[in-house]
Amino acid sequence: MNGRLCALTFALLASTAFAADLTPTGHWSGNTSGAAMTPPMGWSSWNTFATNISEERVLGVAAALKSTGLAAKGYRYVNMDDGWWAKRRMPDGRMQIRADQFPSAAIGGAEGTSFKPFTDKIHAMGLKAGIYSDLGRNSCSQAYPSPDGFLPKGTVEEREIGLYGHIRQDITTYMHDWGFDYIKIDGCGLRDYGPNNPRVTSGNFRALDPLIYGWNINAANVAGVSGLYSEVGEALKTAKPNGDFLFSICVWGAADVRSWAKDVGNISRTSDDLGPIWARMLHNFDSASRRAFYAHPGSWNDPDMLYVGYGEFDENHITEAQSHFALWAITNAPLILGNDVSKMPKPLLDIVSNQDIIAINQDKEGNQAVLAYDADNVQIFVKTLAGGKKAVAIFNRGVAPAEVDLTAQQMKLAEDGDITLTNLWTKQQTKIKKETKFQVAPRQTLIFTAEGAHQLKNGTYLSEMPGRVNPAVDGITTRQADPYIFRFQTWGSTRGNGAHPQYAGWGGAQADYTPFGQTMAVGGKFYETGVGVLANSRLEVRNNGATTFSADVGVDDSTLDTSRPVTFAVYGDGKLLAKSAPKAYGEKAEPLTAAVKGVKIIELVASNAGAANVQPTVVTWGNAALTK
Ligand code: GLA
Repeated sequence: MNGRLCALTFALLASTAFAADLTPTGHWSGNTSGAAMTPPMGWSSWNTFATNISEERVLGVAAALKSTGLAAKGYRYVNMDDGWWAKRRMPDGRMQIRADQFPSAAIGGAEGTSFKPFTDKIHAMGLKAGIYSDLGRNSCSQAYPSPDGFLPKGTVEEREIGLYGHIRQDITTYMHDWGFDYIKIDGCGLRDYGPNNPRVTSGNFRALDPLIYGWNINAANVAGVSGLYSEVGEALKTAKPNGDFLFSICVWGAADVRSWAKDVGNISRTSDDLGPIWARMLHNFDSASRRAFYAHPGSWNDPDMLYVGYGEFDENHITEAQSHFALWAITNAPLILGNDVSKMPKPLLDIVSNQDIIAINQDKEGNQAVLAYDADNVQIFVKTLAGGKKAVAIFNRGVAPAEVDLTAQQMKLAEDGDITLTNLWTKQQTKIKKETKFQVAPRQTLIFTAEGAHQLKNGTYLSEMPGRVNPAVDGITTRQADPYIFRFQTWGSTRGNGAHPQYAGWGGAQADYTPFGQTMAVGGKFYETGVGVLANSRLEVRNNGATTFSADVGVDDSTLDTSRPVTFAVYGDGKLLAKSAPKAYGEKAEPLTAAVKGVKIIELVASNAGAANVQPTVVTWGNAALTK
């Protein structure tokens, strides 16, 4: 094929691919399998015990979850992380457990060892049991052994305890035979065992061509990683046909996981590991907090397990511990404790037992909080709860006290009505109108529920219901790292040349902002609310019983590409309901309305003439709302 022909074929293929992606399906494509209609709550062994886990230790924590009352508050998963495996038995490949540490596993017979007696004990306590694996041949602890760590023993092959080449076999063993309810699947095996790696050249491990290269977002084999995780998802559905499983994806924000985990897993890590360090908490929180549209009932952003109880979140740092917990709760993060619950000081226990804050996290509408005010020192997050109340977090990230205005507008509540704020730490109630002021101490998070008439009288803005919006196609064609994520020195070291933006997602669909963090504006008119997204996108919206969809649509004034007009279309259960004229840059927005009575899935498609976004075209669905 000559060069021109090749280029033409590629252009045709590219445009065909786009047309296909934007074709409305009438379906919700976000993951709803598994048992995660609200974020999971529980405990994991990693932050306290690392690989030094045992039956006695894990059951001790399970008992403590009961005796402290935490289990009754919803902390029900008891998860073993890395370190439980003895070896993969040859030649049948059946996994064997470290029976020296888990005595009840030594059942003998054909199986050799089994976790069934262990999960039976957990279940008898009314709790759920979690296990851990890796998607490569080897694990994270084999790549980064801790000094007192326990590692699988035996030949190279026997030490290959990861899922690679054994997905069906292992998932069946763990989830069906052994009866686990939760599985976390790590990704070190897909990253750290390349042919030139010293741990491989030494002969200790077999090479696996990496699918993930550090945090290089362009070198990662995204289809390879998502394909393997999807295989796990399918195996889980077979092993647990009743759907009682939780699938935790752990590739730390790499492999463009933001774009696909919402369709595959129940929770997905958005960043590298959290540590007991304030600045690290900022890093992990930021990796999840601007992704409200990328979470929904069934699939949540996971900024990692809670570090309450350690370092800058211990009993001498109550303000920090409260912030960490409140921020995780309002972001719909999993509430997975990591400390030794049996030794938990009362003030910390009180924080993670706060029923009102837990209720915000577990609210069944599943709307992750949206950024209502954003600055490096102060942020305000607002989450719409079932029934229409709001939850509000005012977060002072900085080192100086901050005077903060909280407005009805930020909460999307009516400016002329009474608003009742209930402080969820003190339970104190205040009535306000239009706006109020707070003094917020350094590192403090104030968290409230707010009750008042809605700004939009007869409906809901789409940015108030991100749990019902799925960016099935978000128009990103060039992966870029999110520069807004706090860049904390990696692993406490300053060797090398510094921390850099490392997680793809910049340019993704945003509630009330453009994809690049600007105020939305079309033809000179500003929009305080709406959906900001790139052209060549398709958003799926689960209708909430509304009869009308409406938005002012147009190319955003902040667009990078100003040359190509965009057409906006609204579909209801796969059928075209409304379509705009092609909207050019600088043109005023066009009001678009569609009758959606009885429609289940509304799809919002914004498309450019031509192929992919060479330079992104930023579009705005201003004031996008569902009304009755
Ligand atoms: C990775 C994960 C952690 C933990 C360890 C175990 O680093 O990100 O959460 O599971 O592996 O080795």
